[in-house]
Amino acid sequence: MSVKPRRVKITDTTLRDAHQSLMATRMRTEDMLPIAELMDSIGYHSLEVWGGATFDSCMRFLEEDPWERLRLLKQKFKKTKLQMLLRGQNIVGYRHYADDVLQKFIHYAVKNGIDIIRIFDALNDLRNMEKAIYYTKQEGAHAQGTISYTVSPLHDIPHFIKLGKELKDLGSDSICIKDMAGLIAPYDAYELVKGLKEATGLPVQLHCHYTSGMASMAYLKAIEAGADIIDTASAAVALGSSQPPTDSFVAALKNTPYDTGLDIEKVAKVAEHFKEVRKKYNIPLEVALGVDTNVLSYQIPGGMISNLASQLAQQNASHLLNEVLQEVPRVRKELGYPPLVTPSSQIVGTQAVINVITKERYKMVITEVKNYLKGLYGKPPGPVDPDLVKKVLKDEKPYEGRPADLLEPQVEKAREEIKEYITQEEDVFSYILFPQVALPFFKARAAKGNNLGKGQAPGPGQKKGTGAPNKRGNNPVSYNWSNYFKIDSSLLMEQEGRQGPVYPV
Ligand code: CO
Repeated sequence: MSVKPRRVKITDTTLRDAHQSLMATRMRTEDMLPIAELMDSIGYHSLEVWGGATFDSCMRFLEEDPWERLRLLKQKFKKTKLQMLLRGQNIVGYRHYADDVLQKFIHYAVKNGIDIIRIFDALNDLRNMEKAIYYTKQEGAHAQGTISYTVSPLHDIPHFIKLGKELKDLGSDSICIKDMAGLIAPYDAYELVKGLKEATGLPVQLHCHYTSGMASMAYLKAIEAGADIIDTASAAVALGSSQPPTDSFVAALKNTPYDTGLDIEKVAKVAEHFKEVRKKYNIPLEVALGVDTNVLSYQIPGGMISNLASQLAQQNASHLLNEVLQEVPRVRKELGYPPLVTPSSQIVGTQAVINVITKERYKMVITEVKNYLKGLYGKPPGPVDPDLVKKVLKDEKPYEGRPADLLEPQVEKAREEIKEYITQEEDVFSYILFPQVALPFFKARAAKGNNLGKGQAPGPGQKKGTGAPNKRGNNPVSYNWSNYFKIDSSLLMEQEGRQGPVYPV
């Protein structure tokens, strides 16, 4: 090839997105540490190890302190940069938080070991990302501005290139194309990466899920177009609704101008380790191995489809799955085509289920849809259905400002509320983000003399006979459907303790 040699860099997602996508975020720190030294010697660009759903899952299901996990990983990963996923103003939760929470959360994330923060917003609303980018830079970390990729009549390549330029103007050090449902087609990936490189001059990173089976092809075309970094996962936890395999890319690019330079034998040893780890968890094969091009029409992330299916089954409503999957794009269109990623995927998915089960569309409207229409999540990407707005808001005018501007500072008040349980300042943020999960966690920790994090009970995703059942009795992959049918009760906005699926994001 007569191409100027340019080493392609790898972000390995095994310790965050891969197990979030395939194992409902249940991998334990103790399954990560024994292989960390080898992983650190490989020369990845970075390791995605924190954020997304891991923070919640640590406390809710594993009785682990997410901050302690980060510190333990940082001790082992001496050379490799650690990366996290941040939901913009939603931090690692499901609603907006005040700026003081965001600023200090980022401070402690960096202090405990995070080098790179990938910052996204489900609506691609820059006002929900600007502060996170600013605070990340203030802390001296790398701020990666993120485009939540979707396909709709409103979203074309020039739209995303413009968004990339705006993310650069906010101070982003690099740009990520985040394709959470695996929608990007190889030639679109080529055009988008080429356009972003030309328009921003920044490093461009591609993050795809394998759901539709196109991700590896998209990566290869993106690399030819100038992509600097790709997200892959160890072969043991790749494919399906996870990322393409690291191993295959190291092999595919070897002795080409894009050679990753990584040692394929070491990468294979990592896979051997996680093949053993995988045996401890029940990974449903249809999630782990399947390719589903239907995702291109309903666009919901792979992990969410399997959750919807199992929950409908529990309601003796399996026969409604196809109807629900067809309802999802209708609801999405009526809400102005939001990309489907936490929390918009939950909002659209839940309303679609209710529309089908009640046999009358919008007979019941969940609180989150109301809040969405009120502008409390930010600006919908496109026009929302006027009839729906009229029905829900009556004569109320939607809020047009930045949602977090409506919020009072939260940190001091929260610290006061839990002062008897605090063992580290970081606890305040665990509590603000997930009060109903953090409090029992703190109490259990106090009862055990702060010895959590070692020798915990296995998560419900683990096989029987490997330990005691989950102490709080949560079923990890169950919706609590009773919550979904209280029209005016808060779901995502206030009941963060509710049970819910864990989606790849
Ligand atoms: Co992802």
